[in-house]
Amino acid sequence: MKVPFLDLKAQYQSIKDEITVELQKVLNNTAFAGGPFVAQFEKEFALFCKTDFAIGLGSGTAALWAAIQGLGIGEGDEVITTPNTFIATAEAISFAGAKPVFVDIDEQTYNMNPQLLEDAITPKTKAIIPVHLYGQTADMDPIMEIAKAKDLFVIEDACQAHGAKYNGKPAGSIGDAGCFSFYPGKNLGAYGEAGAVVTNNLQLADNLQMFRDHGQKKKYYHAIVGWNARMDGFQGAILSVKLKYLNQWNESRRKNAKLYNDLLADIDGIITPTEVDYAKHVYHLYVIRVKNRDGLQKYLSDNGIGCGYHYKYPLHLQKAYKHLGYKNGDFPVTEKVMQEIISLPMYPELTKQQIEYVVEKVIEFLKK
Ligand SMILES: Cc1ncc(COP(=O)(O)O)c(C=O)c1O
Repeated sequence: MKVPFLDLKAQYQSIKDEITVELQKVLNNTAFAGGPFVAQFEKEFALFCKTDFAIGLGSGTAALWAAIQGLGIGEGDEVITTPNTFIATAEAISFAGAKPVFVDIDEQTYNMNPQLLEDAITPKTKAIIPVHLYGQTADMDPIMEIAKAKDLFVIEDACQAHGAKYNGKPAGSIGDAGCFSFYPGKNLGAYGEAGAVVTNNLQLADNLQMFRDHGQKKKYYHAIVGWNARMDGFQGAILSVKLKYLNQWNESRRKNAKLYNDLLADIDGIITPTEVDYAKHVYHLYVIRVKNRDGLQKYLSDNGIGCGYHYKYPLHLQKAYKHLGYKNGDFPVTEKVMQEIISLPMYPELTKQQIEYVVEKVIEFLKK
């Protein structure tokens, strides 16, 4: 049996007719860069996230960068995040001109450990970016409390958490801004590159609307130095179709995760994901821990099963961030976990038989 790590074709087949109709509308309107289909999606996505505004952008990386600069953060400032994230979180901080500062993660959730935050705050700190990794939110209450006490912004990296909840609140709606990626493999994925920022802050929304369109609100009048970071019309139309199915797809992911959890329970040598009390986990990724994860990856691959690493090396030890001066041992939980994690196939369309096959092969490997 073959079980790919991700299968975008199965989902496309299930909504193909609707997508074709909407794409034809974009073509008929020649509404390719920004425009009414993006505006419609923004309205729907803000409603979904329970925020006043959603601003469509060209990618999740652009969303993070736009939010950071839109809050006035730049040269000489520090922004705190975790070293166990996709590099885009740190890149966005760097591109805004600020310095990424890392804090270690919690070993159960793999998200920012709020207890370590205060020690990382300096007079230069301007914001905290908790990453809702794998589809489960960080523990937002203590993070918000510290941010309030220290007068810091909170920007949620919700790029892996579309539809996730923290104590009933949608991911992205808790901090000053929430940033989403609609990269094709995400829980809500475009058919190209796209992203968005959600916020209740009118001034930030205003800034982002200008920033993404060369700093202009009115054509030829450039109020700020901006960029071209618009979402394209096709992506807006596709995302509007797909948003209607997001809750249903997330439920399928949750069901698949439960089946994995049940089948892998009581197996020695494996740690399965934990859904903590405050969270509704949407399992963008199903990440387990084993001692010999490279061996497992090879064994699964030899048996037709695709896997991923999220992530393989921590950001503080990447060459790109050598200049920050971190060293091995600075973030022991991240460093330990990152040698053990491996992501098993996870998408709504996975079948029971596929999951059973993956589990059978995982157990076979562990018993070798
Ligand atoms: C946690 C996280 N942050 C940021 C991004 C960047 O999003 P994009 O690929 O749309 O630029 C991603 C996407 O992979 C992500 O997973």
